Amino acid sequence: MSDFTERLQIYQKSIETALDRWLPASAIQPEKLHEAMRYSVLGNGKRIRPVILYATGEAFGIDLGALDGPACAVEIIHAYSLIHDDLPAMDDDDLRRGRPTCHRAYDDATAILAGDALQALAFHILAHDPQITVNDHQRLGMIETLAIASGSRGMAGGQAIDLASVGKALSIAELENMHIHKTGALIRASAELGALSVADVDPELLKLISQYSKCIGLAFQIKDDILDIESDTETLGKPQGSDMAMNKPTYPNLLGLDGAKKAANDLHSKALKCLDAFDEKADMLRSIADYIVKRNK
Ligand code: IPE
Ligand code: IPE
Ligand code: MG
Ligand code: MG
Ligand code: MG
Repeated sequence: MSDFTERLQIYQKSIETALDRWLPASAIQPEKLHEAMRYSVLGNGKRIRPVILYATGEAFGIDLGALDGPACAVEIIHAYSLIHDDLPAMDDDDLRRGRPTCHRAYDDATAILAGDALQALAFHILAHDPQITVNDHQRLGMIETLAIASGSRGMAGGQAIDLASVGKALSIAELENMHIHKTGALIRASAELGALSVADVDPELLKLISQYSKCIGLAFQIKDDILDIESDTETLGKPQGSDMAMNKPTYPNLLGLDGAKKAANDLHSKALKCLDAFDEKADMLRSIADYIVKRNK
């Protein structure tokens, strides 16, 4: 097993345990809502955002324990975004992480509420988690970072652009702007929250981490667009061809498959350059950049 796979498994085990701990038990009222929240978060996700967050913290030499809460917060916001993304009013998909989507397993109203409640839970964790060791000023910075990345100037704004773009021919700059918001913002926030978990983080290093994660965040969505064409439903655990069926603007649509792959590879090189100032403790971040462009799901 490579060092990367081994470390990935350690991160994945940490996040599964921490998520299980933070999510309200299904036996607590309102049971159906709590069950739907657990169903959506504890499914078979890749956990790439927590992985990026842990790897960033480790690049600065801090322990995983202090990173569990922020890692849960971003993964929980991501899970909420997927629940709402799959709703009939948005992408209208029936399959997610190899299982029926939340609104299919429960109902539309429960899916909307599960998303709402997960969003609130993410901020509760950042505000409350006693394992976060930085001072209150930096903790507030973490809350602000996640709030901006999730809201109308981040993920939710990107989703609005996505929905408004159906059937339209976007320019490459417009498409990049959409991807940077709908997917890039949360991936960037993941890395930034990792760095903000470090006491008195050096602003110059924080800037480099931010630039690195902007590149891999965009590359991640370009690869998601490519996989929508090249992969299959079973491997993806979500319907292959969904973008085409919904007439969504995508990178392969605009640049062709080869053009989209080149765009992802260029971002990969740019991301690695941002890590030049970091030592071997940032090797996981380097491997994550590789993984993002090479993954098959
Ligand atoms: C899917 O995200 C939605 C996008 C933002 C592209 P992931 O590919 O990270 O989905 P999971 O969490 O592994 O299911
Ligand atoms: C989803 O983009 C982005 C968010 C959920 C914020 P997609 O609509 O491409 O994601 P998938 O392909 O359904 O996972
Ligand atoms: Mg979508
Ligand atoms: Mg979708
Ligand atoms: Mg997609």
